[in-house]
Amino acid sequence: MMRFQDARGLPTSGLDSTQLQAYEALLFALYLYQPGVQKQLDELLAQAPGFVLGYVLRGYSIMTDGLRSGIAQAARYLAQAQSLLPSATERERLHVQALHAWVEGRWAQRMQALEDILTRWPLDLVAYRQLTALLFWTGDKPRQLAAATQAWPAWTPQTPGYSFVLGPMAFALEEAGRFDLAEDFAKQALHDQPHDLWALHALAHVHEMRGDSLAGDQALSAVAHRWKAFNLFRGHLWWHLALFRLAQGRDEEVLELFDQEIFPAPSAFYLDLQNAASLLVRLEIQGVNVGDRWARVAQAAEQTMGQHLVVFTAPHQILALSRGARPQALQATLTGWQQDAKDGMMQAQTGAAVSAAVALYAQGEWASFLTLMRQLRYEAPSLGASHAQNDIYGQLMVDAALRLDDLPLAKSLLKERLVNRLMDAAAWQRYQDMAQLIEQASAPQVLRSMLRQGLPLAPSAQQTVSALLR
Ligand SMILES: [Fe+2]
Repeated sequence: MMRFQDARGLPTSGLDSTQLQAYEALLFALYLYQPGVQKQLDELLAQAPGFVLGYVLRGYSIMTDGLRSGIAQAARYLAQAQSLLPSATERERLHVQALHAWVEGRWAQRMQALEDILTRWPLDLVAYRQLTALLFWTGDKPRQLAAATQAWPAWTPQTPGYSFVLGPMAFALEEAGRFDLAEDFAKQALHDQPHDLWALHALAHVHEMRGDSLAGDQALSAVAHRWKAFNLFRGHLWWHLALFRLAQGRDEEVLELFDQEIFPAPSAFYLDLQNAASLLVRLEIQGVNVGDRWARVAQAAEQTMGQHLVVFTAPHQILALSRGARPQALQATLTGWQQDAKDGMMQAQTGAAVSAAVALYAQGEWASFLTLMRQLRYEAPSLGASHAQNDIYGQLMVDAALRLDDLPLAKSLLKERLVNRLMDAAAWQRYQDMAQLIEQASAPQVLRSMLRQGLPLAPSAQQTVSALLR
């Protein structure tokens, strides 16, 4: 069978050379987080019904939405891809295998099929992006970095789509604590492709982990006016900007960002729920009155109850349903995760345990929450997400310890949450200074204010903390 090659020289079934150009444009749009990509893909599939990777990509996208209601639809695309298997290439067969495993909840096989593709075809952009993204939601940061790095040497600046592997490299490096290298990769990606939201996101994480809220604010603010043109992922960039503003004590602006950009209306998107709940609880810990905003988040959490497949969403659902006073939905959500755990769903056991702990926090059962959460705190990141997102547990634990007047525990936890930021000698020095400030503090509001930031880089930020101590 005659097959044309894609832009990176990989034989691709079912597309002629003109259609391959449309496919390449579609991949660029997809990895630039532009809206309307699925419609373009449907149009291409209507013209090219033998495009096996097109059906797989459609299935991947639906599964990426992370909703149980999407599984049946993804399975239909899988069936269409399977019907083309007799004429598919080996690489395409592995993609079909990966989607098949994903639809059936066999996560290990899903990951392995994608790794098998990259082992032999490191220029498979879809496998590269899909695998690094999926590993983000497993919390397996070394494997995420390994996946990005192993395929890396095959790419050169002349390879079409080169900038789309720089972003995942940058992000994986950042999560592994290699902030300087991560910054280099992110900036290179943004130089090649200024609209690359994933590279910008990696850069935001570098600033977050370095405690450089001013540089983070600047990097995001400078381009935020463009984000309306991107898909829902943009909400997470707004969340990062809000964290930088929270670190600077600009609480009113954070609330404004929440209303206008982060959660303007109830949303079924798991990332929106995570962003919203984790931001509101951070504000409340700082004593900010968030008004009736929880009601909006709780409404979304109830509407999508039992639907979420991204398990890191679970503790956020619990916070929203509790704060939004929906006790029945909260109980049903807890029971749902327990049932998923019994049914053998990956991560659901940890998800159910963490959710039960967070429910105790939400009910004001501080001591019981701390007992459970302290046992779970090194297991919880296996639900995936970044260090910055996982800081939610540190925030809740410090708050609970302060409510119990347990200053030694609060101080210990405050220091503990800085550990993954200590990646160079300068950071250790700042840690020494910060630890001293923590030890000197005795007022709960001063200790709580330290949760606004990680390990502040700007001398002004440390001075603010010192001033509070006086
Ligand atoms: Fe992030």
